[in-house]
Formats: sequence, structure tokens, C-alpha cells
Amino acid sequence: MLRPPASTLAGTHERALRAFRARFGAEPRWAAAAPGRVNIIGEHTDYNGGFVLPMAIDRYTVAVAGPGTERRIRLVSANTGGEDEFDAAAPIIRGGQGRANYVRGVMAGFQRLGAEIPGLDLLIDSDVPIGSGLSSSAALEVAVATLLEAVTGHALDPVDKALLCQRAEHEFAGVPCGIMDQFASALGREGHLLLLDCRSQQLEHVPMIDPAVSVMIAHSGVRRELAAGEFALRRGRCEEAADALGVELLRDATLERLEAAKARLPDETFRRARHVVTEDARTTEAVRMIQQGRWSAVGELMYGSHASLRDDFEVSCPELDALVEICRGLGEAGGVYGSRLTGGGFGGCTVSLVATEAVDAVGKTLRRTYREQIGLGAVVFVSRPAAGAAILPMERLPMEQP
Ligand code: GLA
Repeated sequence: MLRPPASTLAGTHERALRAFRARFGAEPRWAAAAPGRVNIIGEHTDYNGGFVLPMAIDRYTVAVAGPGTERRIRLVSANTGGEDEFDAAAPIIRGGQGRANYVRGVMAGFQRLGAEIPGLDLLIDSDVPIGSGLSSSAALEVAVATLLEAVTGHALDPVDKALLCQRAEHEFAGVPCGIMDQFASALGREGHLLLLDCRSQQLEHVPMIDPAVSVMIAHSGVRRELAAGEFALRRGRCEEAADALGVELLRDATLERLEAAKARLPDETFRRARHVVTEDARTTEAVRMIQQGRWSAVGELMYGSHASLRDDFEVSCPELDALVEICRGLGEAGGVYGSRLTGGGFGGCTVSLVATEAVDAVGKTLRRTYREQIGLGAVVFVSRPAAGAAILPMERLPMEQP
């Protein structure tokens, strides 16, 4: 079955509580969760001030904590077994191993706001796959920020929380990401996509509730190893193009203006900018088509987005192209409206719109054909648009009661 159980969150929550008790020998006092995200369309537009259309997925990172000794933070990942320990009485600096830096970055953000972080024993568990383009890092940041809201009593506006988490990623993980992932994780709403204008930071929740259409995610099995360095390069090219066109952000460029400047732009810079400008247009058009239930038209825009990411922005890879082409081969007769790579690219996942009645058949064909062509196993699942971050209740879960 491709459809996840009604809530994978309850399972992850329960697992995290058990792991906390086993590791720290005490009852946790606080818990919070934040989801990963999938982007339907609008890729590499966020840091250009453009439009994105992500949704939170039904895969969550859960953070649980109890009071610690003095002002020490003891951090454990139930997924990787990684640990970190540092002092919350002093300004928190970068320095933990790998993903611990995201946690440190978020805590440093709370310190900057004047919140007093007490000693904590803190455990993280997650069913958002890491390095898959589904924003496992944003889910981690936002889960920790939401937990800290409960711990410190310092409640944040969700937009400010998303921005604090983005800053943690810039400063503590060294990734100059845009704002899409943290916004989707903090502000996702069940049954809705999130249309975000990344320049004004205005957002609109767009209903996505047609039971006949499902969002299918296919993981290529390729981890996004190259992504961080290439991401910074792409961002640099976009800034160069904006400078050359005399606009602050590529969001403000038009295709006409870009075409007129073609002769004085290096070909690569021109193509990067063309992707951004055309992707913004596809994204706003896709919203109109979704609102009218015109799924074939949405699907065409998704294929167009993939081609542009592959040819102009050059962030695809043969594995992602293969997944998209298998979907295109199935076509609407085979139950697929459209498909594209999702997230930063260089591996990770595709997102497809699939007729709900065809979900199992499409998933099966996708896995079989992908293995024949590429020799790798694809992990395929369906997610409904899920709720964003939340503080979790601490009463015993129903399944734990005698
Ligand atoms: C990564 C970044 C986002 C966004 C996407 C590409 O996920 O974190 O901010 O730029 O890539 O759309």
C-alpha cells in the first residue's frame, strides 16, 4: 500500500518518547513536531523573491525533552545515534557534529531573542528521509524551535519562527537556502498547498482537496551529495543576472527584458535566469489551474518545470529524469497528470500528480521500470497535504494506556 496510515506522526511521537525514556531514564516534559515538505512547483525561485507552492507532508520530525543538569544541553538523535553536548549558559556557537549544528543554530536564535534556555535532555526522532530533498533539515530546525517555544514560554509568530530557522541554516550549516522549506514546515495546513510570495512573504493557503487526485513522491535513491556547493553557485549566477538586468531580484525581471540582454550575458547566466523567470510564470499559472481543477494543465506545467530545471538550471540527474520520463510514458491514460523533480535537485525525489484510483498501479510500474532502467530501488509513497509544526500533548498516548 502506498497510502501512509492516517497519521505517521502518532507512531513517530510514541517511538521518540520510548527512546527518550530508554536513553535518559526519565519522563520527558515537552514534545514538538514539524513536517518535511514537498514542492509542487516553483523551484529555485524563493531566493530570487519569486513564488513557490509547497505543502507539508505527512512525515514528521519529533523533538522531546526533559529538564537537564545545570545549563547543559544533552542532545541525542534516535535516527543516527549521533550525540552532542554543550552549555546553554554561554552564547551557543557552531561546532557540533553534522546535524547537531541545526539544533545549535536554532538555540542560538532563541538566545538572540533574549530567551533563557535551561539545561535540557533532548532527543530527536524523524521519519523524514535525510538528504532526500524533502527538507529534513527544515523539519529538524522547526521542530526544535517549536519545542523551545514550549520550554521557554517564548512564543513566536510562525513567520518569525521560519526566518529564525532559515538563519540557523545559513549561519550554522553554511547553506544559503531560501525561505520555502522553513515556511512550509512551520505554516503548512492540512488539505492545503502554501502559495508563498517570497519577496513580500505574503502567503495564501490554496485548498488541495480533490479526492480523485493524489500527490505521489518517488525517491530516486540518490542522495543529494553535490547539492550544497552547487546550490551556492546557482544562487550566485542568479544574483549576477539580476545585477546585469538592473533589478534587485530576478522576480522583477521579465522574459522580454532578459531576452533583450542575452548578448551581454554569459550563456550559463542567461539560462539560469530564464529558468527563474519562466518558473515564476508557471507557478502562478499552476495555482490558477489547481483552483479550477484543471489537472492536465497543472501536469503540463510540472513537465515544463522539470525540463527547465534539467536544461536551463541544470540541477537534475539521470535518475530523476528517468522517474519523470516513466511518468510521462504512462501519461494520463496511465493515471499520471504530471511529474517533476522537487527540492534543490542533484538526487532526492520527484513529485507527481496521479489519479487516486491509479496510485497503486503507477507506483508499481514506477518501481519496476526504474529498477530495469537504472538498477536502483525507488521508494514511492503518497502524502496528503499535512499540518505544520505543533507542540505535542504530553499525556500518555492511547496506545500506552493499560
Ligand atoms: C532547497 C532550499 C530552498 C529552495 C529549494 C529549491 O530546498 O532549501 O530554499 O531554494 O532548494 O527550490
